[in-house]
Amino acid sequence: MATIAQRTVASTGVAAKAGRKSVVAVRAVAQPRLVGSPANFSAQQTTAGARRSVAAQATAAAKAPSKADTKKKSEYELFTLTTWLLKEEMKGNIDGELATVISSVALACKQISSLVNRAGISNLTGLAGAANVQGEDQKKLDVVSNEVFKNCLASCGRTGVIASEEEDQPVAVEETYSGNYIVVFDPLDGSSNIDAGISVGSIFGIYEPSEECPMDAMDDPQKMMEQCVMNVCQPGSRLKCAGYTLYSSSTVLVLTIGNGVFGFTMDPLIGEFVLTHPNVRIPEVGKIYSFNEGNYGLWDDNVKAYMDSLKDPNLWGGKPYSARYIGSLVGDFHRTLLYGGIYGYPGDAKNKNGKLRLLYECAPMSFIAEQAGGLGSTGTQRVLDVDPEKVHQRVPLFIGSKKEVEYLESFTKKQ
Ligand code: AHG
Ligand code: MN
Ligand code: MN
Repeated sequence: MATIAQRTVASTGVAAKAGRKSVVAVRAVAQPRLVGSPANFSAQQTTAGARRSVAAQATAAAKAPSKADTKKKSEYELFTLTTWLLKEEMKGNIDGELATVISSVALACKQISSLVNRAGISNLTGLAGAANVQGEDQKKLDVVSNEVFKNCLASCGRTGVIASEEEDQPVAVEETYSGNYIVVFDPLDGSSNIDAGISVGSIFGIYEPSEECPMDAMDDPQKMMEQCVMNVCQPGSRLKCAGYTLYSSSTVLVLTIGNGVFGFTMDPLIGEFVLTHPNVRIPEVGKIYSFNEGNYGLWDDNVKAYMDSLKDPNLWGGKPYSARYIGSLVGDFHRTLLYGGIYGYPGDAKNKNGKLRLLYECAPMSFIAEQAGGLGSTGTQRVLDVDPEKVHQRVPLFIGSKKEVEYLESFTKKQ
């Protein structure tokens, strides 16, 4: 796959197929009978989920059981990511094209999970020997994971443009395979942790072509490049899907298509993602903070005052907040999502906008946070409202429990 800048005029056949580039209409059909409802998984829900589950069971008990309710479930029934996608398609929440793109991302994540697991014995630790466009040294696994994502997205035939942390510019999928969707991703997040066998992840977001800038007839590479950049640089509020996969003691894929957050754990014995966290809700408060405090001296006075307050036992009934920091956004965010609390990467005296990238780190995570009842903020603005100007743009990020992010903003919104 060549970048737009590298592609020749001869390869701009995008024009020829532009006419067939239309998103398949979403069909609203009757909800099917489902094999293995999410209720099967209540034992694995989070504490908050379990509480809701109890409430839901109480409500259900008050209703007369339907025929479907009384049908005995087989212990061998599985509710996989594929089952879930099918169900969402049948409910009209996504179309078959988007389901295909999500499936191809899941396939990439399975492959990366296997590579991460075997990195130490397959000579996949250490540096690749080059730096990416942001000047960061690439690890071997950064490069390999990027290839895996690109291959899976190209071969699914439903992706038109991709933008990755490890690519200088957005990449157009070869026209033979290309479709509509625009996928932004961080193929391997937290890669500095990889050689120590510590949790890493992948992050992705999926957009439709921008209305102002559809992928239509183009006959020069420069114009096509601009089209691709424009299509990629959309605010997070337009995301159709966002998700991440955590490669840790287990491999967990968490995603949203805008109707809540769902988590799937990979069963390595059958190689499938199985629904284990239906409708994840982030606790409204949580006394864990996750910041790289080594940067404290570079933060502005408002962020310093906020951090000082978290550590003051007198403000919190004698017990200050607890610190937890892995240094992998996916790992730190996943814990925050399940346990509550706040993750932060502020701007500082050296880097005004912090370290994290808007398009493929902050926006997808903020969509997930909001869909779980939490918030994602730059300290002064909702992350999903930030209009990207550049593909690799950075923004400060404060994300997690609603009340915790609002408390942070009570400091950062001061003049
Ligand atoms: P990446 O490995 O994709 O470049 O991302 C690294 C990010 C993120 O995962 C993590 O939260 C943050 O960098 C850690 O930064 P510090 O080492 O500065 O704490
Ligand atoms: Mn990252
Ligand atoms: Mn990365």
